[in-house]
Amino acid sequence: MTSFLGHPLLLLTLLFHYAVAWPVAPSQTVLEPATVLPSDDDYQFALPMFDTRPWERVYEIRLAREGYLYGTPLLGNTSFFPTGVLGDAMVARDRAAWFQDVAYVTNKVYPELDKAGKALMEAGGIQSLSSYSVIYEDQWASTLPDGVSPGVLTNWTQNLLFSMERLSINPYVVRRLHPREDPLPFAVDNRVVRHLANGRTLETLHRDGHLFFANHSYQAPYPKTPGRWTAACTAYFFIHPHSGEFLPLAIKTNMGSDLTYTPMDDTNDWLFAKMAFNMNDLFHSQLYHLANTHDVAEPVHQAALRTMSARHPVRGYLDRLMYQAYAVRPIGVEFLFNDGGFYDSSFALPNWSGMRYATEAYWEHAGHFRATNFYRDLADRGLVDCTYGPNLTSFPFYDTVAPMVAAIEEFTRVFVESYYPEERLLGEDHELQAWIVEATEEAEVIDFFPAPLLKREDLVSILSHIGFLSGIAHHALNGATVGESMGVLPLHPSSFNQPLPTTKGSIDSLLPWLHNETEALKQASLLVRFNRPLLDEQEGNLPQMFSGSSFLAQTGSAVHHAATRFREKLLAISDEIRGRKFDEHGLSQGMPFIWRSIDPRKIPYYLCV
Ligand SMILES: *[C@@H]1O[C@H](CO)[C@@H](O)[C@H](O)[C@H]1NC(C)=O
Ligand SMILES: *[C@@H]1O[C@H](CO)[C@@H](O)[C@H](O)[C@H]1NC(C)=O
Ligand SMILES: *[C@@H]1O[C@H](CO)[C@@H](O)[C@H](O)[C@H]1NC(C)=O
Ligand SMILES: *[C@@H]1O[C@H](CO)[C@@H](O)[C@H](O)[C@H]1NC(C)=O
Ligand SMILES: *[C@@H]1O[C@H](CO)[C@@H](O)[C@H](O)[C@H]1NC(C)=O
Ligand SMILES: *[C@@H]1O[C@H](CO)[C@@H](O)[C@H](O)[C@H]1NC(C)=O
Ligand SMILES: [Fe+2]
Repeated sequence: MTSFLGHPLLLLTLLFHYAVAWPVAPSQTVLEPATVLPSDDDYQFALPMFDTRPWERVYEIRLAREGYLYGTPLLGNTSFFPTGVLGDAMVARDRAAWFQDVAYVTNKVYPELDKAGKALMEAGGIQSLSSYSVIYEDQWASTLPDGVSPGVLTNWTQNLLFSMERLSINPYVVRRLHPREDPLPFAVDNRVVRHLANGRTLETLHRDGHLFFANHSYQAPYPKTPGRWTAACTAYFFIHPHSGEFLPLAIKTNMGSDLTYTPMDDTNDWLFAKMAFNMNDLFHSQLYHLANTHDVAEPVHQAALRTMSARHPVRGYLDRLMYQAYAVRPIGVEFLFNDGGFYDSSFALPNWSGMRYATEAYWEHAGHFRATNFYRDLADRGLVDCTYGPNLTSFPFYDTVAPMVAAIEEFTRVFVESYYPEERLLGEDHELQAWIVEATEEAEVIDFFPAPLLKREDLVSILSHIGFLSGIAHHALNGATVGESMGVLPLHPSSFNQPLPTTKGSIDSLLPWLHNETEALKQASLLVRFNRPLLDEQEGNLPQMFSGSSFLAQTGSAVHHAATRFREKLLAISDEIRGRKFDEHGLSQGMPFIWRSIDPRKIPYYLCV
C-alpha cells in the first residue's frame, strides 16, 4: 500500500531527458547531459547541494510548480485544496486508494447492520435506556472487532466517566480558568457547589485554579436540521479538593430555556444534560479533526510538492506520511457532507453548519501550526505544567500520547541529523528554504515557522508535528474512537427528537428525546465506518509510520535503526494499552472505562477519512 508521489515525476523528468530534449535551466545555461545511467546511490535522498544530477531537480521543480496548483478549499473555507494537472492526478490516485482500503468495511457494515437490527427486534426494540446496549453487545464483529470500550456500556451513567472523557477521547475542548485573567462564565448556586466540592464555592475553586470550562456555545446560532434538536452547552468541571478527581460541576444548555443543570438535579435531568453536552462534543470532535489535522498537514505538504525534489529527504518524509491524504476532502463532499447524506441524516446541525464550524475553528485556532503543537496546546489550556493550579491527578490523553509523540520526535531527530550533520547546512539548502517561504506566503499556512529556518530543532519540530497530526491527533478524534466510545448510545446521541425541556424535574422518561430503533442503528452503523480493522495486515498502522520499504530504501543505516527503534517503542506502548485492566476500584487511568482506541496497532500512520 505504499505509493510514492515523487516517482512518476522523476520518471517524467527522465523521459524528457532521454527522449525529448535537454531542458534549459532558468539561467539559460545548457546543462551537462548525463552520460551514465543512474546508480543505486542516485535513489538515495539527497540535499540539493549534494545531488549528483542537480539539473534534474531544477527541471522537476519547474514542472511541479506548473502541475501542482493551489485550488479552492473543500469542506469549508479553510486551506487550499490541490489542483492543476499533477494535483488532480494525485487526488484521483488517493481517491482510488481510499475506495480500495475502505471496501472491506463497506462490505461488512450492511450485513452487520442487519444482524444488529434483528437482535434489537428480538429484544423487543428500545424499551428503556439499557436497550441501546443490544445494538453493541456481540455486534459489529468485523467492522469494530474490539467492540465498545470496556465500561462504556456498564458505567455510562457515572459522573467520572463523563468528566474523564474530556481528558481522553476528546481533549480539545476543556481548559482551566485562570483566576485573574478569566472571569467566571456563568453562575452556579453555591449551595450546590459546596455540596459537591467539599465546602468550596465557585469563587474559591476559581481562585485556587481548580475550575475548568468547556465551551460549545458557538453552536447556538447554527442552523438546525428540521425535526432535530440540540443544545449549545457550556460546562464547568473541577478538581475535587480532597479526592483530586476531575469531576463535572454544571452544564448550561444556552438554548431553549437556557437551564443550568448540576449533578444534584434529578437523575434524568442530569443525564439529559450530559447527553446534550456529548452531542455538542461529538459534533465538535468530528469537525475539529478536519480543521486541525487534514486542513493543516495538506497545505504544508502542497508547499513541499512545489519547492522540493522528490529526492529531498524532507519531501520524502512528508510524502510518506501523506499517504491517501487527498482523498478525504472530496470523499467528504461526495459521501459524508452531501445534501441528505450520512452526516445530514444523523446530526442536528446540517452539513453547512458543520462546514461553518470547520471554517471558524480553522481560522481561530485549529489551523494555527505552532499554537496547536501537542505540548503547547495542552499547556496553554492549563492542562499540563499549570502555574496557577494543581496538576491533574490523571490525564490519560497526555500520559498515553506523550511517549508516542516523543518516539516520533526521536526518529525525526535522527532523520534530520543524518541529512544535516551540521546546522549550517539548513541555510545552504535552497529547496528547504523555498519550502518554508512558500508554506507561509503561497500555501498560506497560519502561524508557520518563519523563514529562514536555520535550526535543526525547528525542522524536527515541523516534521514531528506533521507526524503527530497524521499519526495521532487525527485518530484521537476520528477512527476507532467514535465507534468504541465517543458516539456510543445512549450517552452520546447525534441529535434529540424533540425540543429541550423547558423546566427541570419534568423528565419521566428520556426516550422521547432519544433515537428510535432506526435512528439508533443508523448512528451506530455510521460511526463504525470510521474504523480501519485491517491496518496491521496492510502495514498501515502507527508503528509502521517510518518502515515503508520504498521510503527506507532511500535512506541510510542510521535511519533504518531509528525506524526499527521507533517500531519497537510503539509496539511496546501498544502492548501496554492492550494490557490495561480495571484496578480494584473499577478504574483504568482513573476512568471507569478502558481507553484503547488510541492503541498504535489500531490507528493508521496517515490521515484517513
Ligand atoms: C474564504 O476565506 C477567505 C479568507 O478569509 C476570504 O478572503 C474569502 O472571501 C472566503 N471565500 C468564501 C467563498 O467565503
Ligand atoms: C464561549 O464561546 C462563545 C462563542 O464562540 C464566545 O463568544 C464566548 O466568549 C466564549 N466564552 C468564554 C468564557 O470563553
Ligand atoms: C448541504 O445541504 C445543502 C442544503 O440542504 C445543499 O444545498 C448542499 O449541496 C449540501 N452539501 C454541501 C457539501 O454543502
Ligand atoms: C506537576 O507535574 C509536573 C510535570 O508535568 C511536575 O514537574 C511537578 O512536580 C508536578 N507538581 C506537583 C505539585 O505534583
Ligand atoms: C424514527 O425517528 C425518525 C426521526 O425522528 C422518524 O423520521 C421515523 O419515522 C421514526 N421511525 C419510527 C419507526 O418511528
Ligand atoms: C466499570 O465497568 C466494569 C465492567 O465493565 C466493572 O468491572 C468496573 O468495576 C466498573 N467500574 C466502576 C467504577 O464502576
Ligand atoms: Fe479524517
